[in-house]
Amino acid sequence: MGLPQPAFYIFKCEQSSPPGMPKPSCVNAQTQDLFQHLAQTLMQKGIIGTVQPIRSACMNRCNVGPVMLVEPGHTMYTGLDKAKIDRIIQEHIIGGNVVQEYVIDSELWDDPITPADMAAQMGK
Ligand code: FES
Repeated sequence: MGLPQPAFYIFKCEQSSPPGMPKPSCVNAQTQDLFQHLAQTLMQKGIIGTVQPIRSACMNRCNVGPVMLVEPGHTMYTGLDKAKIDRIIQEHIIGGNVVQEYVIDSELWDDPITPADMAAQMGK
């Protein structure tokens, strides 16, 4: 048997704007330990090998941050805090049920445009 691939990747936005920048960011004094909390909780539950937390750059949904993206499934969670992360791990990652309450509004996360359609629109 080969080395198993992860069951999930969790991309946590770790972008931080300098103080005074007009654009909000997902990491500030109140939210800076969320990635550590995510990783520690996965470790405590013994699932860190099959669930891979990844520090990501900005995912362009800063206004509803802190955000994280769960793959597979393309599920974008917004407005995170430690309690919400705990619930996502328990209900989505372990239980298999997306936590709809924390999922991004479809206005901000509509269906993707396929690369083939995008290339066609661009005349490429
Ligand atoms: Fe996190 Fe932009 S800073 S989505």
